[in-house]
Amino acid sequence: MPLKYVPYTPNTVEGQAVLDNITRPRRVLSYRDNGEVYNRIKRGMPAYEVETVEQIGENPENLVIRGECLSACAYLKEQGVKVDLVYIDPPFASGANYAKKIYIRRNPQLAAKITQATLELESAELDSFEETMYGDIWNKEDYLNWMYENLQAIKSVMSETASIYVHLDCTIGHYVKILMDEVFGENCFINEIIWHYEDKFATGGKSLDKNHDTIFFYVISESEYVFNPIIIPKERATIRALRRKVDGKTVDVLDENGKKTYVEYTEKKEDDVWQIGRTISQTESKSYATQKPKALLERVIKASSNEGMVVADFFGGSGVTAKVASALGRKFIHVDIGINSIQTARDDLIAEGASFVMKEIKDGVSLFRNPQQTMDKLATLIPGLQRRAAGVSSFWFGVINDSKVGAMPVYVPDLIDSRQKVLDIPAINRIINQEIPRLEIAAQRVVVYYIDLDDELEMKKFIKDNNVTTVDVELRDLKNLLHETVVNDELEFSCQQIAVDNHDQDLFDPADVKEVYQVVIKSFVSDRLNQKIGEFNEKGYVQSVKTGKPFKPITISEEGLELIELVAVDCVNAEGQWHSSVEVKIDKLGYVTLNGKKNKVFWNGKIESTEKPLRIKLRNISGDEIIQAI
Ligand SMILES: C[S@@+](CC[C@H](N)C(=O)[O-])C[C@H]1O[C@@H](n2cnc3c(N)ncnc32)[C@H](O)[C@@H]1O
Repeated sequence: MPLKYVPYTPNTVEGQAVLDNITRPRRVLSYRDNGEVYNRIKRGMPAYEVETVEQIGENPENLVIRGECLSACAYLKEQGVKVDLVYIDPPFASGANYAKKIYIRRNPQLAAKITQATLELESAELDSFEETMYGDIWNKEDYLNWMYENLQAIKSVMSETASIYVHLDCTIGHYVKILMDEVFGENCFINEIIWHYEDKFATGGKSLDKNHDTIFFYVISESEYVFNPIIIPKERATIRALRRKVDGKTVDVLDENGKKTYVEYTEKKEDDVWQIGRTISQTESKSYATQKPKALLERVIKASSNEGMVVADFFGGSGVTAKVASALGRKFIHVDIGINSIQTARDDLIAEGASFVMKEIKDGVSLFRNPQQTMDKLATLIPGLQRRAAGVSSFWFGVINDSKVGAMPVYVPDLIDSRQKVLDIPAINRIINQEIPRLEIAAQRVVVYYIDLDDELEMKKFIKDNNVTTVDVELRDLKNLLHETVVNDELEFSCQQIAVDNHDQDLFDPADVKEVYQVVIKSFVSDRLNQKIGEFNEKGYVQSVKTGKPFKPITISEEGLELIELVAVDCVNAEGQWHSSVEVKIDKLGYVTLNGKKNKVFWNGKIESTEKPLRIKLRNISGDEIIQAI
């Protein structure tokens, strides 16, 4: 359960335009389940325990938070943190799942033997498979209700002079514009920015190519907000006569010879259509499926904040907002629900020399990397579950065929939709009074999984008093299943103190010899990755038989070191907050980034520190991490 509920803004429920509108007789945008939002907003934002997992450098004001937008806002509000600029690029309800390529690294034991010529492999030649980063499949009503709550939560942590940019597209943008009018006020709408990208391939077909996104720009106070005009170079310089006002009349400015003077204009003020390429440049390194270019964020941040101000992104993805904010001297807050986003942002921020604190919101869900992958995993963990069954609507996660009870429809809260996390009276009411009567199969029992219950006794009593059907409702705690998803990888290593000669010349000098601790990774086993690779190979073989095209399976050495993305040792803390004393990250080509600095050397399967390491952290190529004592 949340520790408590934190009110959104003082006047949200009574005063804001939308829910109980005092200036309009009724809501502008009306759709199913609006009433539920009213109750949830009245209850407040769910605040959970927040753990500090790591501090990098000295600046505790910069934050990287793993958790949902709502709970992150509750935490910030509790801490009294106010943000001056918000940029969000939330899921668009695009109907797609976004995946990332996972590259198998080089086997360090072979790497030393590989010649430079083979090092420069194109990424297409590297072994890889795909994994879902996040899901973006919603029905419109659910999405809008979810978005409404998130916007209210974000508003509650914005400073009095803050601005917000909400990045969407034509899928849902127009609906969200109306929500934003209601949440922030129509008078606080400043611009609709069209981000036009010409570098997208034409899709053809019987429509115009969709080559733009829409960004809505609102402020909290229409009379006081930061705005620095954006000046961009003109495509072609223009020359115009210099003119000025004299006694109310505009006249030419003449030079000492009485001739007109001219000025060349090479720059102009940018308007609300931004031409910025979508392709992420080589130097930015694309690490996230929906990563936005730095140039876009630079415009937003420069236009609507000044140095020292706090810039927040509550759907941070690759961390591009935090990175650009940091580079421009702003403070940053990066929030995301997915572990891969947090790791990507963390590693890149370290590489750019930023200092920040990493927080984890203990919201009761032990996620398997991200909500979408957890949902996929759950489907395989519920014993006997059949995902699609005739006679049960998509409201149900599937059906369990039990030898005694028969077919039992199963409800599982959608982890992508934060509103479903707590099983409350309205939710169970919907199940017993709408969804069970609608079943087209004769079920004796339904299973309802929950993450949090409002009040278990009250819930059971409510079911007993209100269930007019003969169908039993069995409540099950989803957390028990989720714990099973997190099976740790296995690591075997040795640690010894050795002497190394750091001098590159042949002459031996004892002063150059240093004692270091060397950890050698002997083997690494990840059942989850092995299973994934097994599935990939199996699919590939089947395809190859069908198409007649050759297929190269992914093979992993016995030591399994190709499955490692990052190794770090902590020489400061034996438990609690992690401190990376030395950190080795291995990129997809096998090169090492040592303590945030890229090198053109291969990883040798070892990590060295001058202090005695107390524990070791290892991250596999899909982002699962384990920590072991040394
Ligand atoms: C479109 S992506 C953001 C991409 C980002 N702007 C970039 O340039 O890399 C949306 C992100 O929202 C995250 N997300 C989805 N639901 C969330 C929630 N309720 N709270 C926080 N993050 C969420 C997803 O994990 C995903 O990383």
